[in-house]
Amino acid sequence: MYTEQVTERFKKPRFMGEIQEADSTGEVGNVRCGDIMRVSIKVKDDRIADIKFKTYGCVAAIVSSDYLCELVKGKTLEEAENVTSKDVIERMGEVPAIKTHCSVLAQDALRKAIKDYRKKCD
Ligand code: FES
Repeated sequence: MYTEQVTERFKKPRFMGEIQEADSTGEVGNVRCGDIMRVSIKVKDDRIADIKFKTYGCVAAIVSSDYLCELVKGKTLEEAENVTSKDVIERMGEVPAIKTHCSVLAQDALRKAIKDYRKKCD
């Protein structure tokens, strides 16, 4: 069902956790399955200096979140906002079609965190 690459990443995610004293966090739920995703970010010079995620979710949600974090770390907030679930799935290699909706969770949580960060800075 999942590729070896996805299975290995699931066993050893690199960005799982929560940033203490994060500049912002975003939390969303997936209405289709009830799973929850929380993304915390640290911002420096308008870039994602650090990012972590915590989820109550499936393998696809965990792995796609980990790859999203990898993709956006170091990017400007605008660049990070423009990373899509399609980019994440490309990075993952392959995801069962029934699981593609799971890859949207972290993206939504990240966008929410960025939105809240901008609100705080206005
Ligand atoms: Fe809920 Fe994948 S089944 S996020």
